[in-house]
Amino acid sequence: MQLLIDMSPSFVRFQPLGNRAEVRVGTSLLDVAGRAGVSVESICGGTGRCGKCRVVVRTGADRLRPPTGNERETLSEEELREGTRLACEAVLDRTGDVLVEVPEGSRRGHHRLLAAGINPKVSLKPAMRKVVVRMPPASLKDMSADDDRLLSALRRKARVAGTLSHRVRQDMPDALRKGEWTATVTLFRDKELVRIEPGDTSDSLHGIAVDIGTTKIVAYLMDLTNGKTLATESMPNPQIQFGEDVMSRITYTMRHDDGLDQLHHAVVGGVNELISKTCEKAGIQNDDVLEVMAVGNTAMHHMFLGIPSRHLASAPYAPAVRTGVSLDPMHVGVGIYPFGRVSALPNIAGFVGADAMAVLLATGLYKDRDIGMLIDIGTNTEIIAGNRDRLVCCSAASGPAFEGAHIRHGMRASTGAIERVWIDPGTHDIVCRTVDDAPAKGICGSGIVDAISEMFKTGILDTSGKIAEVGRSDRIRGLPDGTREFVLSKSGCDGSREITITQNDVQEIQLAKAAIFTGTTIALGRLGIACKDLSRIYAAGAFGTYVDAGSAINIGMYPDIPTERIRFVGNAAGSGARMALKSTNRRDLAERLSKKVEYIELATQDDFQREFAMAMFLPHRDVERFPSNGYAERTSG
Ligand code: FES
Repeated sequence: MQLLIDMSPSFVRFQPLGNRAEVRVGTSLLDVAGRAGVSVESICGGTGRCGKCRVVVRTGADRLRPPTGNERETLSEEELREGTRLACEAVLDRTGDVLVEVPEGSRRGHHRLLAAGINPKVSLKPAMRKVVVRMPPASLKDMSADDDRLLSALRRKARVAGTLSHRVRQDMPDALRKGEWTATVTLFRDKELVRIEPGDTSDSLHGIAVDIGTTKIVAYLMDLTNGKTLATESMPNPQIQFGEDVMSRITYTMRHDDGLDQLHHAVVGGVNELISKTCEKAGIQNDDVLEVMAVGNTAMHHMFLGIPSRHLASAPYAPAVRTGVSLDPMHVGVGIYPFGRVSALPNIAGFVGADAMAVLLATGLYKDRDIGMLIDIGTNTEIIAGNRDRLVCCSAASGPAFEGAHIRHGMRASTGAIERVWIDPGTHDIVCRTVDDAPAKGICGSGIVDAISEMFKTGILDTSGKIAEVGRSDRIRGLPDGTREFVLSKSGCDGSREITITQNDVQEIQLAKAAIFTGTTIALGRLGIACKDLSRIYAAGAFGTYVDAGSAINIGMYPDIPTERIRFVGNAAGSGARMALKSTNRRDLAERLSKKVEYIELATQDDFQREFAMAMFLPHRDVERFPSNGYAERTSG
């Protein structure tokens, strides 16, 4: 009898990048991924215990061995039904091709790429438009004035009846003659002529989108003839010297007569520095930039434009300006073409600013059929929930714990910060991953959420967040004040420090996550749906992108929905600012949306205190709201 062996090669292809590798029977998807150059999270070293290497098998599932015991323990019924596998446990059983999707949350280092934001398609229709006009020269037979000649040529060419800015009046006589009666005019929103240049300069049209965050400013120089980003630069917000958070900066403006001026000049100085850097990178002059489109939270927006922000600090927290603005750059002190424009998207409410509006534009939540939610986590977490029919928003005071503040060994997500944690449930051995794989210096927000999730999963924390008795693990130590701490990482000869999680750290995170979950519950309650029925969460901002969605659900920060329904959108505020710069349709839409979104002031809601108290538990007092990990059975059993 002849034994037939199928020697035809099999391939595993990984989406969304399209990498593929040839594979032999008996190889795990994690190993194939490595050979295909796809970095999948594998914090437990591929032993099937951390659950971080989730992938979804789209085709060829029958070519893999059935799910193992580890997979059945880690993955929910729904995940298994939808084809989710642990890459380290899923082994090829027979030849044939397999198509595997690696979700964003399972891609190692995914956040570094995504921090740049998303790039939704926008039809180009910038507010600044250049039109090349040609006209007959002035002569003794035709002695009409330059402005009449220019405006009638413009009407013929572009069918617009613009008005001349005084600068154009001043530049026009020489520009027309220098260009031999061919000139390029720049129109703002097809109404006002803001610039005239001799000849044809229509191939040069630039604008800058700026996202002014409380901690960081990012600027994007855009070529508005084709919508491409030419250069991106960022820097810490120079206002940090006046206070780390928005409230302390507002307080500064209240305590010092020239406080607003100081804060205004600091942020404008930062923006100007970024404008110069991006222009230098792209080889253009600052004067070539015709418009700046800025977004930021309401306080940053007001301070950038030199508008008093003090009334944001006390009830009823009304912003001074909600509507979108377009100003002369000279009024703000921004260093671009002096007769261009500095614009800002509209704010929504006191603590839901133009940056949240930009995220709304970028995610497209406003046109979804099903109810979704966007969440931008910061000292104040902005939440917008709804769909094309109705949108509600609120701002949750989540505090700075996720940025490492008020955490004993907390730090920002920079080199040496622990950003991933896995605890072996049996031995309590710990694997930590640090930013840049450097010796551990501290722990950042995503690391502490992971740590608390793992401590809870392994019984080191109970549902009230209390650290277990000394002796439960040799990593638990008593402190002189009677509380306990958990040693996450011991100091090492590589220069790494000892990092511990104290009882106080746990409580800080409980307060922060309870604020966010309460905001979510109340916003969704207003829309009449339960958290579990959310179709999608758009997680924006640096922290939202870095944090492990599974850990965030496990501690009760995000609602208990399948992690594949959570989409990381990076710096979506920057994406929305670019969209608004590229398209007046989008900024008009923003204007309409800012009136449509209903603001909920959380502190005045009847159920706020009760919801907040329940959300302080891990994951929640009402365990039925977190069914996927079996808390309900655990607590009842
Ligand atoms: S690497 Fe697969 S479960 Fe940890």
